[in-house]
Amino acid sequence: MRALAEGSAPLRPLVNRFVAGTDLDAALPVIAGLATDRLVTVDHLGENTTDRAGADATVAAYRALLLRLTAEGLADRVEVSVKLSALGRGLPDGAALALAGAQEICTAAAEAGTTVTVDMEDHTTTDATLTTVRELRADFPWVGAVVQSQLRRTEADCRDLAGPGSRVRLCKGAYDEPASVAYRAKGEVDASYARCLTILMAGEGLPMVATHDPRLVELARRLGRDRAGGYELQMLYGVRPAAQVELAAAGEPMRVYLPYGTEWFGYFMRRLAERPANVAFFLRSLVTQN
Ligand code: FDA
Repeated sequence: MRALAEGSAPLRPLVNRFVAGTDLDAALPVIAGLATDRLVTVDHLGENTTDRAGADATVAAYRALLLRLTAEGLADRVEVSVKLSALGRGLPDGAALALAGAQEICTAAAEAGTTVTVDMEDHTTTDATLTTVRELRADFPWVGAVVQSQLRRTEADCRDLAGPGSRVRLCKGAYDEPASVAYRAKGEVDASYARCLTILMAGEGLPMVATHDPRLVELARRLGRDRAGGYELQMLYGVRPAAQVELAAAGEPMRVYLPYGTEWFGYFMRRLAERPANVAFFLRSLVTQN
């Protein structure tokens, strides 16, 4: 399926909706365009790296990205998002390898004057990811954590993470998780999101409200009004772009999560899974090609 998808020309327009190109040269003009009215967080696509060379290449790609952001004068409005599995966490001694890679990326981000947020992957990695974020914060207190409202544990995690200066991105969660650890019904995930958001807004950190759900965006605006520490609204590149522009024009701090790179398959499949209409289009594209 992956090989078929990656070679599929008719699929490109749908992929391009969510992914800003396969290399940095293609992504940079898109980043610069968005940064005229929005903030951006850039993800160099990749996950579940299977060897040391792949982990090293990911670190090198982030260093090159951060240098280019500085050279283009974008680093004050653009940060980066990183997956620990792309830094080799799944390898033997992976925790130490991923921590070392993330520290290198954070050092480059500090030199550029910007920040790093550590993406959250499936629930088997939650504890390890939050441990790495805590370790990174010893030297780089501005490192952002991500929590997923679909997980039953996340209200407690929000309480732990709501301390002074703590940047926390709250999303619903993009992975198919079992009922033993996750809410499965959309209504339950949404209600959990509202509870988690309320905890973060009452805390002392920076809540980063990552959702396209209009009701939750409105709740964030209401809870965040006059909040001393501020907050950010965050959406994915290609999802509700008109709402992004409108919210930014209304003075909301709106950040766009922008992925680029050749390893787009896993990210793209999660975007399809969120929208049945996208799946139908995807299957039609494959059939048209063959
Ligand atoms: P929901 O899925 O209920 O969608 C609400 C509305 O948004 C839909 O009705 C539709 O209009 C629109 N919409 C949502 N997804 C769409 C799509 N793919 N195509 C078209 N329209 C769509 N997840 C994770 O597990 N780990 C992470 O680190 C991150 N990081 C992250 C960063 C940022 C900035 C965002 C915005 C999201 C993430 N996510 C994530 C993904 C997140 O968990 C979730 O899967 C998606 O944001 C979709 O959930 P919504 O909150 O938008 O709600």
